[in-house]
Amino acid sequence: MVLQLLSAAAAVSHDAVPDWAMFAYLVSGVLFILALRGLSSPATSRAGNRYGMVGMVIAVVTTLVTHNIASLPEIAVALAIGGGIGFVIARRIAMTAMPQLVAAFHSLVGLAAVLVGWAAYLNPEAFGIAEGGHIHAQSSVEMGLGIAIGAITFSGSVIAFLKLAGKMSGSPILLPGRHVLNLGTLIAILGLVGYFTVDQSLWVIGVITLLSFIIGFLLIIPIGGADMPVVVSMLNSYSGWAAAAMGFTLHNSAMIITGALVGSSGAILSYIMCKAMNRGFLSVIAGGFGAAPEAGAGGAPKEQRPWKRGSAEDAAFLMKEAESVIIIPGYGMAVSQAQHALREMGDLLKKEGVSVKYAIHPVAGRMPGHMNVLLAEANVPYDEVFELEDINSEFGQCDVAFIIGANDVVNPAAKTDKSSPIYGMPVFDVDKAKTVMFVKRSMGGVGYSGVDNDVFYMDQTMMLLADAKKMVEDIVKAMAH
Ligand code: TAP
Repeated sequence: MVLQLLSAAAAVSHDAVPDWAMFAYLVSGVLFILALRGLSSPATSRAGNRYGMVGMVIAVVTTLVTHNIASLPEIAVALAIGGGIGFVIARRIAMTAMPQLVAAFHSLVGLAAVLVGWAAYLNPEAFGIAEGGHIHAQSSVEMGLGIAIGAITFSGSVIAFLKLAGKMSGSPILLPGRHVLNLGTLIAILGLVGYFTVDQSLWVIGVITLLSFIIGFLLIIPIGGADMPVVVSMLNSYSGWAAAAMGFTLHNSAMIITGALVGSSGAILSYIMCKAMNRGFLSVIAGGFGAAPEAGAGGAPKEQRPWKRGSAEDAAFLMKEAESVIIIPGYGMAVSQAQHALREMGDLLKKEGVSVKYAIHPVAGRMPGHMNVLLAEANVPYDEVFELEDINSEFGQCDVAFIIGANDVVNPAAKTDKSSPIYGMPVFDVDKAKTVMFVKRSMGGVGYSGVDNDVFYMDQTMMLLADAKKMVEDIVKAMAH
């Protein structure tokens, strides 16, 4: 969003940038780095956001002051339209629809890069990148790459949006010979970008744009199911590189710095998520290497097996008697907004002398950090929140594993069933806990990956079937008696 704003403003500033403006861009670059550093921990994230906002204000104001093509009223109208639309969408969006919104916004960053590149191609003198009608070789490479990355980001993000919003099948679509096709298309794009330095005909840039739109589509359709979180952060990274490439075309160092920061932090996040999911980074980017066919996907549990149902009163009684409770939140907690009631439950348990910890899986929910944000909103103390690798060894000593709206992240099929779409993803060892409480609405509802979960049918599992918030509120009431 911010990059779109900057690119719109930067599109009007190309001539020699005054020293003070270069300094201002440097200051904003430093503030963006401090912002990223702050955002790396919940405790410092507010300060990080503030650094980012100040840095962005400095960058945008500097660009507006040094502008020299569009008039200020024109820029103001563009900012008002874009900002107005963003404001309304951000206010209306449900937390659960954030991933598809993020994908949709990434598509706009990509499109902005394509349009800026085309504007520079059609009027290169205005951008100060041509002499005698011929675009400088360096600028033509920057422009070609910028348009290519932007177009890949655009079409890839549109597919990711359609998959995440459920408007297109979330399962991998595997075309025969796709790796050869993808590699061939990528080589053709790079070859044409090189050729564009000598032949700047319309058809060259046109074919680069078209092939890039196609490759974005081809790269994302084979990725599906549990790998979608990686796609979202990967497209975030691409959008950063697209903006950085445009920064070169527009001679705007703030865009280059911001784009490179977004590009590299998105790439690092994708890498971390691949590690968390036990997926090969390159295989995910290449699209669907090792993607399992739609095994087990599809809805209802595979077979009818016995399971035990418990009530809020049973859960309250057992947890008050326990020494330690580990709470595993997931997507369903976000849907029902149960985090405040959950914190109240944790407070009551702590008063009874029970040790309470929260276990967060890196891909729990629908976006990176989803659970952390919700627990922080409910003022759950940070020192009670643990990551997978730090807490997984504790389930053997824990009395109650309280799973609330999570499913895939506790599914043992990830460890045992090679045909499962989540095979290989590290999961919480909840089966080692003495008692497992599983809050969800029905036995039929499956997790994101659509597979049945053996934890429902274990001897020590008590199913607590209800809306997560309602169930936790009832447990809190029962504990108070
Ligand atoms: P899921 O596996 O999606 O399971 C959600 C569970 O919540 C289901 O069992 C569902 O069962 C239950 N539920 C839904 N609404 C509920 C409500 N109102 N009250 C109570 N329960 C409710 O969640 P997870 O364990 O958090 O796993 C995350 C999955 O999403 C992974 O497969 C991951 O790859 C994928 N994913 C993650 C991300 C990121 S970045 N985190 C992005 C995209 C996809 P009922 O319907 O029966 O209630």
